[in-house]
Amino acid sequence: MLFQTLLSLVTLAVSVNAANYKRVTCPDGNVASNEACCVFFSLRDDLQANLFGGVCGEEAHESLRLAFHDAIGFSKSMGPSAGGGADGSPITFPDVEPNFPANLGIADSVDFLTPFLGAHNVSSGDLIQLAAAVGITNCPGAPRLEFLGGRPPPIAPSIIGLVPEPQDNITSILARMEDGGSFSPAEVVALLSSHSIARSDHVDPTIQAVPFDSTPFVYDTQFFLETLLKGTGFPGTGPNTGEALSPLPLSSGENVGELRLQSDGLFARDSRTACTWQSFINNEKLMASQFQAVMAKLAVIGQNPSKLIDCSEVVPEPLPAVNKPATYPAGKSKADIQQSCFSEPFPTLSTDPGKATLIPHCPPSQGGDADDCDSDEGSL
Ligand code: HEM
Ligand SMILES: *[C@@H]1O[C@H](CO)[C@@H](O)[C@H](O)[C@H]1NC(C)=O
Ligand SMILES: *[C@@H]1O[C@H](CO)[C@@H](O)[C@H](O)[C@H]1NC(C)=O
Repeated sequence: MLFQTLLSLVTLAVSVNAANYKRVTCPDGNVASNEACCVFFSLRDDLQANLFGGVCGEEAHESLRLAFHDAIGFSKSMGPSAGGGADGSPITFPDVEPNFPANLGIADSVDFLTPFLGAHNVSSGDLIQLAAAVGITNCPGAPRLEFLGGRPPPIAPSIIGLVPEPQDNITSILARMEDGGSFSPAEVVALLSSHSIARSDHVDPTIQAVPFDSTPFVYDTQFFLETLLKGTGFPGTGPNTGEALSPLPLSSGENVGELRLQSDGLFARDSRTACTWQSFINNEKLMASQFQAVMAKLAVIGQNPSKLIDCSEVVPEPLPAVNKPATYPAGKSKADIQQSCFSEPFPTLSTDPGKATLIPHCPPSQGGDADDCDSDEGSL
């Protein structure tokens, strides 16, 4: 009796083990959790080698923005005819969504990702979400995103008007994010940590690659701090539509100061979002884990997740966080902060030493302030 119980316990343990650790060996030798994941290993390697080059540069940034602009093309209130969400529609129908004003610049990422479809048997929706997940692993501190594969081809492009714009007010952006992805205000703030690795080419058409924080090649919390600094000027010819006063407006040639989107400035100060905003300052772990969770929601908008297959094993381990505490840029201090969350104390931070500096135009691995790392010039 005792022996039989033991035996059945052992049998149970083996089968549980088998269910959890079932593995298939792919034709290329990679080991996957499901054979449907095999196709994504070579796509990942191709993207890293031939698009991102291991750098948190323009292509990584633009792929993440595309993942959002594709996914938010969905509406609970209007139904499926408004758009299919994270379905790859900007790539499959390149003459529609990329031409919408809110998608200025999206054509770049559509153009550089499209060739990968010819070489890999994946859908355009899977390509976009995988490119975003793989691209940000080159940004120190980014979380390792979930990746589910198996999105069917998109049926149609989404309608105009579903992508939020920086000149929109917070009420309307929050309403759109709720209708598009059931995102709460706190989740929208977590998604906006993406603007920590982001630069604008189109808000001010006279200057390119103008970052939203002083560290656009690192996924860190500086964005949440710097958006609360009092604005003093514009890095180019502002104010342009959707642009607010920046605290670091100095520019010199290709090395520009930072640009503040009107919407980011308002999110930082709005009573519905200010405390979540402040909570991320100097709390990299919290920011990264919330972003990871909300990106898992974003990546399956309009999809039936139960029909997708978890292929997260193809996503590389991101570069580790720099682990530098958040700091006031040189010349700034607590006195410049427009604190907007009143229920929590503001974190105590030090100031970078020296005089105010410009923000390098290129990632350090691409020569710092060299001028050869624009979006149209490739990643390597
Ligand atoms: C919710 C309101 C949002 C607004 C109003 C907004 C607006 C913008 C604007 C105007 C730009 C600059 C485009 C250009 O001039 O080239 C930008 C860049 C970017 N956005 Fe957003 N965004 C929002 C949310 C998001 C979300 C949810 C994500 C991703 C999860 C995201 C990721 C990015 C990235 C990565 C860039 C930089 C692209 C690059 O460096 O080329 N944004 N956003
Ligand atoms: C491409 O993938 C689909 C499943 O996603 C499969 O049915 C089809 O046979 C594949 N085609 C090739 C050429 O491998
Ligand atoms: C926000 O924008 C919407 C759409 O443009 C507009 O109808 C609404 O009145 C605005 N709300 C506020 C508070 O400005």
